[in-house]
Amino acid sequence: VRCVVAVDGPSGSGKSTVSRRLAAGLGARYLDTGAMYRAITWAVLRSGVDLTDVESVAKVAGEVDLRIGTDPQGYGVTADGVNVDKEIRGPEVTAAVSAVAAVPAVRELLVARQRQMITNAGRIVVEGRDIGSVVAPDADLKVYLTASESARAQRRSAEDAVDVAATAADLARRDKLDSTRKVNPLQQAPDAVVLDTTELGIDEVVARLRDLLTE
Ligand code: CDP
Repeated sequence: VRCVVAVDGPSGSGKSTVSRRLAAGLGARYLDTGAMYRAITWAVLRSGVDLTDVESVAKVAGEVDLRIGTDPQGYGVTADGVNVDKEIRGPEVTAAVSAVAAVPAVRELLVARQRQMITNAGRIVVEGRDIGSVVAPDADLKVYLTASESARAQRRSAEDAVDVAATAADLARRDKLDSTRKVNPLQQAPDAVVLDTTELGIDEVVARLRDLLTE
């Protein structure tokens, strides 16, 4: 049976860990849409085009051969045949990704790819910022995860081994870019279930989502 779960929320809200575990438990596929925006950003940086040159950024995005797996236990991302799993988590890509993700042509391209992958998978947990609102508005379950700014900074800094203050500053900067521009990817779908994970462990969040799915 078809089952699409949309998990949205800002950085450090627990999206990735929760989505992967939920998908593995359901025997479903998993799609990390942030990794797709990051891989395009890696290709844009490698090409050397100016990040503010929207047309050139869109051109690079349209030409790169982007591939991403959907196994929740481990998926690889390649751009033009190069494995970029490590590079897309690095500081250069993280600093540039919000600008690249703001280019409408980049979003159109990736949203179309994402919809196609969802159709092919049938059962899938998709995580991002605009999944319930734009990519899969007909999802069976839409969740919007939040957490306090300090909880999010602490989680992310533990993952990346970067100090909390620097991480907090970076998250605040990207939240602002992601939520104030004209093309706003961080949109809460009106029918999304909002879960504040500040005081919840991963397993508790996953259990709540499983309950919501069987209700
Ligand atoms: O978890 P974290 O926010 O660090 O990263 P991510 O989920 O990998 O997303 C990285 C960036 O990609 C975000 O800051 C957004 O600018 C962009 N993004 C987006 O615009 N739309 C999505 N569906 C997913 C990510």
